[in-house]
Amino acid sequence: MMRWRFIPLTLLGIALTAGAAGVRSGYEYLLPETRALQDDDFGNPGLAMVDEGRALFQRAGANGKACADCHGTGGERLDVHAIARYPVFDQERKRPITLRERIRLCRSEKQAGPALSYAGRKALALETFVRHLARGQPVAVEIGGPMAAHYEAGRKLFHTRWGQVDIACHQCHDNHAGQHFRGQTLTQGQTNGLPAYRLATGEVAGAHERFRQCMHKLRAEPFAIGSPEFIDLEVYANARGNGLPIETPGVRY
Ligand code: HEC
Ligand code: HEC
Repeated sequence: MMRWRFIPLTLLGIALTAGAAGVRSGYEYLLPETRALQDDDFGNPGLAMVDEGRALFQRAGANGKACADCHGTGGERLDVHAIARYPVFDQERKRPITLRERIRLCRSEKQAGPALSYAGRKALALETFVRHLARGQPVAVEIGGPMAAHYEAGRKLFHTRWGQVDIACHQCHDNHAGQHFRGQTLTQGQTNGLPAYRLATGEVAGAHERFRQCMHKLRAEPFAIGSPEFIDLEVYANARGNGLPIETPGVRY
């Protein structure tokens, strides 16, 4: 029953992974009280980052223009379906552009700066605010055409063994999802809740921050935030969760 629904999506270049029908959000593995916290429109601690992003969205850049001047006071002129498709291939730059990179480009090119650091708090806050606008939208990363090579590179990284622990993302997040690991339940490592608030650290982490945290755990030297490797990994990781609703800001351990 479930399978045929995914066939038209593959024809459109949407990812079909082995477990497409069994794709599960990290939300499904949470304790009921943690789910309730994420669902609470006042209590979700990640919403402070959304508010921080909204304030930045309404602040003028070097040319006197705010994001809000072009995209609406609350971002209502941004297309939520388009947000759910990131990363997307940029024909002009000939590379995949993540949502955070899109925001950085707008800051530099449409507001004349000051430039946003990829790893900085402002870029993370703006990304959290913008992705929150698309909450409930199904992730829909296209992996046909020029994206295919980046998806494949990301897939390889996901299956590479890292660090002294010598274990691949895929071993924990595909093979052992649902099992216990150091007092936590391993999930599929999906990205639909990102940027998410982490109860363990009290911080909000986006995809690249989360990838780094997992690589650190494996005692591997992680790639840099915003690196081409992590961008490819984000292409793969997001596409692997195609169809899952965006939950930003998720609440996770
Ligand atoms: C002067 C107008 C202007 C300003 C200011 C501006 N943008 Fe944009 N933005 C655009 C245009 C035009 C596009 C469409 C892509 C392009 O033409 O480069 C865009 C695209 C986007 C997209 C992608 C939408 C899609 O459909 O893929 C996002 C997200 C975005 N902007 C966020 C921001 C944020 C956040 C800021 C402030 C940091 C900002 N923009 C500032 C004009 C602006
Ligand atoms: C030793 C097991 C292990 C390995 C290997 C591992 N992780 Fe994780 N990862 C975890 C644990 C534990 C968590 C927190 C609980 C959960 O979501 O699984 C986590 C969480 C995540 C999350 C957040 C999921 C969410 O719902 O917000 C992402 C994304 C992720 N990992 C990606 C990766 C990537 C990419 C790699 C490879 C570079 C990787 N992980 C390698 C154990 C691992």
